[in-house]
Amino acid sequence: MCGIVGYIGSGDVVSVILRGLTNLEYRGYDSAGMALRDDGTIKIYKTLGKLINLKNELESKRKEIIHPTAGIGHIRWATHGNPSLVNAHPHTCTCGKLVVVHNGIIENYKELREELLKKGCKFRSQTDTETIAHLVADEYASSKDLEVALRNSVIKLQGAYAICVMHKDVPDVIIGARKHAPLLVGIGENENFIASDTPAIIEYTKKTIYLDDNEIAIVSKDKVKITNTKGKVVEKKTEILPFEPVALSKMGFKHFMLKEIYEQPDVIRNLLNGKLYDISSPIALNEVKIDKGIIKNLNKIQIIACGTSLHASLVGKYIIEDFTGISVDVEPSSEYIYRKTTTDESTLVIGVSQSGETADTMTAIKQAKEKKSHILIITNRPDSNMARYADSLIPVNAGIEVSVAATKSYTAQLISFYLLALHIAEIKGSLDEKYLKNIKHELIQLPYKIEEILSNTTQIQECAKKFSSFKNFIYIARGINLATAYEGALKLKEISYINATGYAAGELKHGPIAMLDETMPVLSILIPGSITYEKILSNSEEAKARNAKLIALTSSDDKNLNNLFDIVIKIPKVSEILSPSIACVPLQLLAYYIAEFLGKDVDQPRNLAKSVTVE
Ligand code: M6R
Repeated sequence: MCGIVGYIGSGDVVSVILRGLTNLEYRGYDSAGMALRDDGTIKIYKTLGKLINLKNELESKRKEIIHPTAGIGHIRWATHGNPSLVNAHPHTCTCGKLVVVHNGIIENYKELREELLKKGCKFRSQTDTETIAHLVADEYASSKDLEVALRNSVIKLQGAYAICVMHKDVPDVIIGARKHAPLLVGIGENENFIASDTPAIIEYTKKTIYLDDNEIAIVSKDKVKITNTKGKVVEKKTEILPFEPVALSKMGFKHFMLKEIYEQPDVIRNLLNGKLYDISSPIALNEVKIDKGIIKNLNKIQIIACGTSLHASLVGKYIIEDFTGISVDVEPSSEYIYRKTTTDESTLVIGVSQSGETADTMTAIKQAKEKKSHILIITNRPDSNMARYADSLIPVNAGIEVSVAATKSYTAQLISFYLLALHIAEIKGSLDEKYLKNIKHELIQLPYKIEEILSNTTQIQECAKKFSSFKNFIYIARGINLATAYEGALKLKEISYINATGYAAGELKHGPIAMLDETMPVLSILIPGSITYEKILSNSEEAKARNAKLIALTSSDDKNLNNLFDIVIKIPKVSEILSPSIACVPLQLLAYYIAEFLGKDVDQPRNLAKSVTVE
């Protein structure tokens, strides 16, 4: 996955594109590049590694950049061809007049490349993207019209693409096209933009046109025209972005991840606001557009998601089954899309995705849609492609999440599941009135309890310091917090590169126990009141007997825990069914502080990108 920024206008082209790329850095950061239309020529700058290298490069070349009027920039997360200068975008045609940046994967690039080689094109990189540059240039050679050339080219491309092109001989335009990869146009005063995502333009304009698949945007500094691949003009709605530029600031925190962890109480309040007024009123979830009669008879729900969103979905399964009695399957999108599923028109399919862009989940949703299921999307990006496929849409409203490691979007997904499950339970009448009121009361209290954790992190920091030299971790839990163990372990491995695995505590003795010794700390999630509390204690004892160092994450006041565990991290008391939304916070912090102590790049861990737009 990569980020694209195109700009044409009277502003400072280099600065605008660099700002845009900075705000898209979550999309990829193994190389970056920019092409400028300057002084009648196309100038290209590329660097390896993070965007800061491109900034420095452009700074050092400032004297040779005279007065650029347009440019296209790119930040790369390598798919075809390793991260290298030659593979960095923009790519050019043989004569260098046409430049292109691309996000996505061209599946038939080898066949196209063969044909273009026969025509005399000179390829320089190993990328699929370079094929696009040669293809469009070849079409331009016959049509002498860049719009026509791009249109004729994209119909030959198979796969996914968001493209932005610029040509030396077509001075007043940049052109974008998309299929299965996001692209939007930002509309300013005397300036316009093309970008992969809204953070790229938010500091300049809030007016946006989202391109749909197979659309082409012809953008000059004072005009935007959108056509389809047949050349017919498409009338598009201009939307106003719901975000403020301040969402992209660290607000005094050292990292976005820490800021986003600290935002969680407000994220929950924001999400509950208007949906859960008081414990006596029914949940107001007007977003769910399913007929009440259908909800009453619903007997199959399938949830599809990836990564952290998948972990939230596992919690969602417990909540929905507990509150409503409806059977719920949860499956990684990447598995769902390659098998014969039982999804049909009576299945409620829930797609969960922070970004609303994840390719596997997108494909899964499309497949379910073809089977005529009701599609409910839980996402942080109601402006995303995935949201457009929703019959019902629950926006989690967590605000832009910049750090690659998902934190506040996870908690917001959990809260959405509580609201959804309560809403269904109220329609079905499947919960005892007193229990229902208690849950609502506890939900309203959650932000305060998370604030309690965030107000004193000393113990978590001490734990992080003490354990940061370990190379492996095991997280154990049972029941609804098994997903918390998976998520806690994922947080640790993705930002600190420490090998951490979540296990059902009862599974320890069926294999993983063989790994236990003094080099393998075990973190146990222990929520008193649950029927499995004592069982997890026993599993922890078993680990202790193999010399493992033990950490407890618990709301128990039992002083004896200090004898068994090396460190006891306390969380406020909460009923087990709600505990994942609290227990995840210290685990996020633990991962954060370990990565911090190890000097890792917390917000942009290696090999990862925030949204994975390739299958
Ligand atoms: O945007 P999505 O929620 O669909 O992304 C799915 C995963 O790539 C994502 O949750 C990933 O696991 C997290 N960034 C990890 O913190």
